[in-house]
Order: sequence, then C-alpha cells, then structure tokens
Amino acid sequence: MDDSKRPRVARPRRRARRTARLRAIMARRVLVLGSTGSVGRQSLDVLAGLRDSHVVVGLSAARSAQRLSEQARAFVPEAVALADAAHAAELQLPAGCRVFTGPEGLVQLVEHVAADVVICGITGAAGLRSTLAACAGGGVVGLANKESLVLAGHLVRAACRRSGARLVPVDSEHSALAQCLQGHDPAHVRRLVLTASGGPFRGWSAERLGGVTPAQALRHPSWDMGPRITVDSATLMNKALEIVEACRLFDLPPERISVVVHPQSVIHSMVEFTDGAVLAQLSPPDMRLPIRWALGYPGRVPSGAPPVNLARLPGLSFEEPDTTAFPCLLLGPRVARAGGLTGTVLNAANEVAVEAFLAGRLPFTSIHGLVADALDRCDNVAEPDLELIEETDRRVRREAAACLPQTAS
Ligand SMILES: NC(=O)c1ccc[n+]([C@@H]2O[C@H](COP(=O)([O-])OP(=O)(O)OC[C@H]3O[C@@H](n4cnc5c(N)ncnc54)[C@H](OP(=O)(O)O)[C@@H]3O)[C@@H](O)[C@H]2O)c1
Repeated sequence: MDDSKRPRVARPRRRARRTARLRAIMARRVLVLGSTGSVGRQSLDVLAGLRDSHVVVGLSAARSAQRLSEQARAFVPEAVALADAAHAAELQLPAGCRVFTGPEGLVQLVEHVAADVVICGITGAAGLRSTLAACAGGGVVGLANKESLVLAGHLVRAACRRSGARLVPVDSEHSALAQCLQGHDPAHVRRLVLTASGGPFRGWSAERLGGVTPAQALRHPSWDMGPRITVDSATLMNKALEIVEACRLFDLPPERISVVVHPQSVIHSMVEFTDGAVLAQLSPPDMRLPIRWALGYPGRVPSGAPPVNLARLPGLSFEEPDTTAFPCLLLGPRVARAGGLTGTVLNAANEVAVEAFLAGRLPFTSIHGLVADALDRCDNVAEPDLELIEETDRRVRREAAACLPQTAS
C-alpha cells in the first residue's frame, strides 16, 4: 500500500514510534553507580523526570538487592552490578538485564555498558576503581564519590586527561565552585570559599561533644544523606575531605581555600577573584540540583521546580569554624599539602572510626585522635600507584581497628 492510501489514524502512531526511536538514539545514556544510596536514589528521582532526554543504562549497589531490583524494573537498564555476590540470588530483574557481581563487577559494568554520563555515587574508598573506570570511558563523570579524589586525585585526573572525560562535581559545594568558575581565567581566582552548615553540633564546646550519641550525629540540620557523610558532617571531617577534593579538582593549594560556616546552607560555595569580586551559587539545599547539572552538562536541564523565592529565604549568616571543638577540619589542609598516601590514610582511618562510633565502640571526640595518629604513622610516598593505594588502605584499616577501645564507649 502506498503511503497516501494508509488509514489516516496510522500516521500519528507511526510518527510517535519514529519519535520514540529517535529519542532513544539521541538520549544521553546514564549509568548510576551506588543507585540504592542517597545520591543514587536522588539521581533516579531526577532521571525519572528526564525520560525524553536521558536513558538509564546501568545501576549498582553493594548488597541492597531488593531495592536494586525495584529500580531495575522501573528503569529497565541494560545491566546491573551487585558488589556483594552473596546477595545475588535475591535479585529479581527484568528479562535481558545482565548482572555483574563482586567488587570487580562494578568495573565490568562500567566497561561493558557504554554511557555518556556516569554518576559515581558509591560511598568511601570502595568507589575508587569504578570512578577510575568511568574516567577511562571518556564521557561526563558526575563525581559524588569525593574519596576518589582524596585517595587518588592524580590518577583520576590522569585518566581524564587520557580519555578526554569531563569531571563534573556532584558534591554541592564543588558543583557551586565549578559553576562560579565557568568562563573565568584561573589566573584571576584569588581563593575558593567552601561553605559548611556546621552540622548538628554547631556552637557546642569540646566538653559537651564528649557525650554525643550516634542518633544525635545522624540528625543533620540541612541535608538528608547516607550515614557515613552525615557523621563526617558532624565532625567537620567532611569539610576536611572537601578541602582536599577542591585542591585536586581545581588545582589550587590549600592556602587558597577557606571554609566559612553558613548554617542556612543556601550559599553552596563562593569564588573570590583578584579584583575582589565574589561569585556565589545559591539555592535551597537539594542535591538534585548538582545532580541535574552533571546530567545536563555542559547545558542545563529544566527542573520544573518553582522559582526560588528570595524574599522568603532565611537571613544568611556566616561565622568562622571552631577548630578547637572540631579539630578534624585541620586535617584537610594538612593532607592536601602532603598529598601522596596521606589522603588514603585519612580516609581509611576515618571510615574505621565512623563505623566504630556508629557501633557504639568509639566516642565521637575520639574520631579525630584515631585519624590523626594514623596520619602521624604515615610513611608517605609521592604519586602512589593504585596497588600501593589499595594496599595502604587495607593496612591502615587493620591498624586503626587494632587501636579501637576493647569495650563499648
Ligand atoms: N548523600 C548526599 O547528599 C551527598 C552529598 C555530597 C556528596 N556525597 C558523596 O556521595 C557518595 C555517596 O554518599 P551517599 O550519602 O549517597 O551514601 P549512601 O547513602 O550510604 O549510599 C552508598 C551507595 O554505595 C553503595 N555501596 C556502599 N558500599 C559499597 C561497596 N563496598 N561496593 C559497592 N557499592 C557500595 C551502596 O549500596 P547498598 O545500598 O547496597 O549499601 C549505596 O548504593 C559519598 O562519597 C558522599 O561523600 C553525598
């Protein structure tokens, strides 16, 4: 039958099918690593509203097989990875969805599933290898896993240089900095100002912090995040990690990065230029904004959220951080300056300390001592390779665990 004799009703249907096929071809292919966590779930929340322009091609979790299965049924990715193979039998996936298991399964997922954007939302050092694989892939790497830069900033940057991958920070502060820096000559930057909410214990004395419980530390005033980063925000260790992250991302020494406490979490960070101008990025605290920026990079995808009502924003206030009560903050510049293996030591000892604190085995105020002692013992090596970084990570975890008090705190 020639086209002119087809029933008229078929035309819109054919056109719709053609448009759908075209959309599928043109759509950005997105892989979400750590999709069952806080960043991962918020990424999928954003992606659910972007089905015309973005398609989810891969998802991963450590052991949350049930949640991963639900996500896979909703987004029908080409493949998923589950790092803890012991839970693989619990997976219930749509037909045709490939499964990779074990820690190496994360890297296999990144290597086998072509993606334009990889959101790296795994927490801790466990995210390093998959971040490096994403950087080797050459697309946009939406990096929430700041630990990759703290442990191996030089390897991450080298992998991006080789492949042409574009590192787009998803950490809200670094996303703010990257947005403020866009289009500016780095020679005109005087300093970066990272904002910190101050966490749930802002204004508390060192003595009062002695009695802090895990439940109190997990109650963040502005952000709803995974447990590890929430405790890090309470000790200000998160800001220490972010100082290192900023140094590695923007190639600046720690002397040109300062931290200001801004309890309202509306200004996400600022850049001061050599002429004295300060640019800030502000919005209500919502991780979906930096996630959306990475998904649309270098453009922007509309959110559909109502415009920010500036008249209704709380008064914006700023104060100096209290490094006597929150000494973890000082470890950031120390590690950023020393480089080498110190980032690995800082992160590994801190992961052990936070886990012990959450398990009631270490007082809140002892987290700093455990990490600082590990750094004091560090036999540093400049520009370590991946094997040395991973070996150091394992050794420091063993040593830090051996330093934990024998009885519950
Ligand atoms: N949450 C935020 O708002 C926020 C803001 C800025 C930056 N970040 C950064 O983003 C990263 C993720 O934070 P989050 O708060 O989303 O953490 P989270 O809620 O604890 O989620 C972590 C995700 O990583 C997976 N995972 C954990 N251990 C793993 C392992 N050994 N191997 C493979 N996958 C593993 C988890 O899987 P299971 O569910 O199976 O455990 C989960 O999908 C961190 O680096 C954090 O610093 C987070």
